Amino acid sequence: MHYQIPKGLFDILPYTDEPWRLTSAWQHLEKVFHKVALDYGFQEIRTPIFEHTDLFARGVGATSDIVSKEMYTFRDKGERLLSLRPEGTSSVLRAFIENNLGSYGNIHKLYYVGPMFRYDRPQAGRYRQFHQVGAEVLGVPSAEQDAEIIDMLLEFFVRLGIKNTTIYINSIGDIESREAFRKAFHSFLTPFIPKLSKESQSRLEKNPLRILDSKDPEDQALLKNAPSILDFLSPLCKDHFQKLCSSLDRIHIPYQINPKIVRGLDYYNKTVFEIASSDLGAQNALGGGGRYDDFTSLFGGPPLPGTGFSAGMERILQTMLKQNLPLPTCKPIFVFLIPLGERAKEAAFSLTTQIRHLGIPAEIDLEVKKLQTSLQRANRLHACFAIIIGDREIETKILRLKNMHQCSEEEISWEHLTPLLQNKWKESHVQRM
Ligand code: HAM
Repeated sequence: MHYQIPKGLFDILPYTDEPWRLTSAWQHLEKVFHKVALDYGFQEIRTPIFEHTDLFARGVGATSDIVSKEMYTFRDKGERLLSLRPEGTSSVLRAFIENNLGSYGNIHKLYYVGPMFRYDRPQAGRYRQFHQVGAEVLGVPSAEQDAEIIDMLLEFFVRLGIKNTTIYINSIGDIESREAFRKAFHSFLTPFIPKLSKESQSRLEKNPLRILDSKDPEDQALLKNAPSILDFLSPLCKDHFQKLCSSLDRIHIPYQINPKIVRGLDYYNKTVFEIASSDLGAQNALGGGGRYDDFTSLFGGPPLPGTGFSAGMERILQTMLKQNLPLPTCKPIFVFLIPLGERAKEAAFSLTTQIRHLGIPAEIDLEVKKLQTSLQRANRLHACFAIIIGDREIETKILRLKNMHQCSEEEISWEHLTPLLQNKWKESHVQRM
């Protein structure tokens, strides 16, 4: 039986001709994000990859595309209705309330890295299992907190070397602001209903705000003169938005105000934002997020303001590739041993074990066929040194340490090898990479 990976999924591999699928590239991204998160005062949270379906229906919204069309939902053997998580925020909030993290203080800064699942039409930049890095702050209502979140996401991109990003910000206000906008928007759209796309027509009653981010060109044209939600903000929401803009100005973060950014998840209020890359195609959002002050009450917790973002790792890596940014290859093996013959194999095996027990990355070729092939493998593993061991080396107890980068060799007695390697390892930049 010949199996193939399900549609919209991909493997992350130690070696491949598609550099964005290299494990080392993913590890690099994760490492940079862990450091950014630490620098901004966040701590990691890990939640399961599936939850009760109702959690997402309530959190993300039953009428959202994510919940109504894109969830992987199944019944387990106990007839419970469960779904693979389509996003991280709902799970973080569930875990926060369930584990009573609120009792540990009044401000909580949590971040996560992991796979998410959405049954969507696969295309460039859109997968059915994709990966997000994300951050959520609970307990801080101020606009500076939104600015910090935007700065943090941008800083992550900057540290990766990503250029040509645009930050779009908007405010979708509170329930009252949205209600006022909804009425005006509905009156504006009513004469055009027959011209709207089918999708937008069905959104008109259920979730009219989402019409604003319709990708349909005719909808886009109709929306040119649509009212702007920013003109319907309550005084409190207007003040919050102005403070967000001035906070971003103060820390020199460039942004564009785009009243059409509404986001596809229902939990937001006030601030919403997206960071897009001009080097991606139709799916150009590298990340997005916003404020969600009523979320915890939705889940029966005490009201707690929240704000956060998440970003798609696949799109980040693909942008890096487009921009010719170097993606790291696998970490090098420090020393590669090549035994020639059975007697050498026994001795080299003990030696390799000794080296590894010192915490030095070492590999041995236990199936030497041709010396050339073994050396090629040493090169593929980016080995710094190679040692070829044959009968002569066993008899003389003298080894030749081949420097793979400088193509030089030095002789060393068997008993001095491990101390020498230890010194070289300490001095080497390899272990610091
Ligand atoms: P989202 O906009 O649905 O927000 O997803 C965030 C990012 O995940 C997108 O900008 C995109 O880079 C990536 N992404 C989404 N769907 C896919 C897909 N099918 N394939 C590849 N990448 C994808 C959220 O998920 C919110 N939880 C963000 C948030 C956190 N808001 C507040 N806190």
